[in-house]
Amino acid sequence: MKYFTKKDLKNKKIIMRVDFNVKINDEGIIMNDYKIRKVLFTIKTILSSDIKSLVLISHMGRPKRKRMKKLSLTPLIPYLESKLNIKINFVSDLEKKNIEKIKSANKGEVFLLENIRFWPEEEKNDKLFSKKLSQLGDVFVNDAFSVSHREHSSIVGITNFLPSFGGILMKKEIENLKLARERDNSPFSLVLGGKKIFDKLPLVKFFRKKIDFLLLGGAVANTVLKTMDFEVGKSLIDKSVDMKMVGKYFGNKKNGQMNLMMPGDLLVASSKNDDLGIERHYTKVLKDDIILDIGLHTRICFENILSQSKTIIWNGPMGYCENENFTQGTEVVARAIANSSAFSVVGGGDTISAIEKFGLLDKFDFVSTGGGAMLEFLSGNKLPGLVALENHGPHPS
Ligand code: 3PG
Repeated sequence: MKYFTKKDLKNKKIIMRVDFNVKINDEGIIMNDYKIRKVLFTIKTILSSDIKSLVLISHMGRPKRKRMKKLSLTPLIPYLESKLNIKINFVSDLEKKNIEKIKSANKGEVFLLENIRFWPEEEKNDKLFSKKLSQLGDVFVNDAFSVSHREHSSIVGITNFLPSFGGILMKKEIENLKLARERDNSPFSLVLGGKKIFDKLPLVKFFRKKIDFLLLGGAVANTVLKTMDFEVGKSLIDKSVDMKMVGKYFGNKKNGQMNLMMPGDLLVASSKNDDLGIERHYTKVLKDDIILDIGLHTRICFENILSQSKTIIWNGPMGYCENENFTQGTEVVARAIANSSAFSVVGGGDTISAIEKFGLLDKFDFVSTGGGAMLEFLSGNKLPGLVALENHGPHPS
């Protein structure tokens, strides 16, 4: 893959794929801007490269291929204008007159295209649509590592029509995640939590011979407990996954040296909104309980393991962090990693929000903007967006 230099961009119209997929509340306020903050440096570098114009393309949420007001990118305009100190021209559709406007932009003009997933062709990686997008510029820059696991037009298809480069954030993501993937400094701990287990299974498969400790929390742990036939009450479990498969990954003895660390005690409540949890042994969960955090003994045990680890990969909170009363497990894990001497890599939107709340964001070696993309990359999978950049570098066929 070729990463752009200023020379590659001089006097060119640039199309840049970014990932502005952040949580925005009903009042249009950005709840966590980490992902956007991380790409601002690339945008500023491009803007200072004597370019003709810049078109920013991003998705927001999963609009199911139709326009939804709450997934519009319009709330980002004031944010970007203040951070970049430049006027942002919003492009709501790809009618001919808008394409012409972009083509004949004044020097240095910046455009933000509406949520790219409002166009049904995007997620189909449609050839004609990809070509249409490519007409908005002369050079394509992908700085959206976090969505490069998707085979979409603005990630993959467009590279067939333009000289294509990786961006500065893309380079950082790839370099750091490669370091984590290839490291074998032990003890090596993999910490998995959050709502979904399905997308984390390949990671367990990839690392199971290499890791010493697999620490589980959140709905990931609930789901594994369920497959082991323990009562989990009304707790969140990942129903999208085949329980037999979960058993295969976590239950059998072919896991090498890996120690599976399940939460031995849990904090349960009768509602997610309760202000107090009750500690329960994992074998004593009741039918009406909701597991909302790991328990005190588990926290101490996890803290111990993490403080002695030399390599740590973490994805997914240990509990229901939306309620402040159930953030303790996640905070203990975050602090233990932050205070350890391990090379640490963290990722996933909810995990980042949590560590930012604890004020620990700068205490990790690398905080990836990728959730699913980070998991796929670390699992050794080829990401379609990266393959496309490798195949269609600066000289498209
Ligand atoms: C993410 O939040 O992980 C990326 O923006 C990708 O979003 P997606 O899972 O909806 O493709």
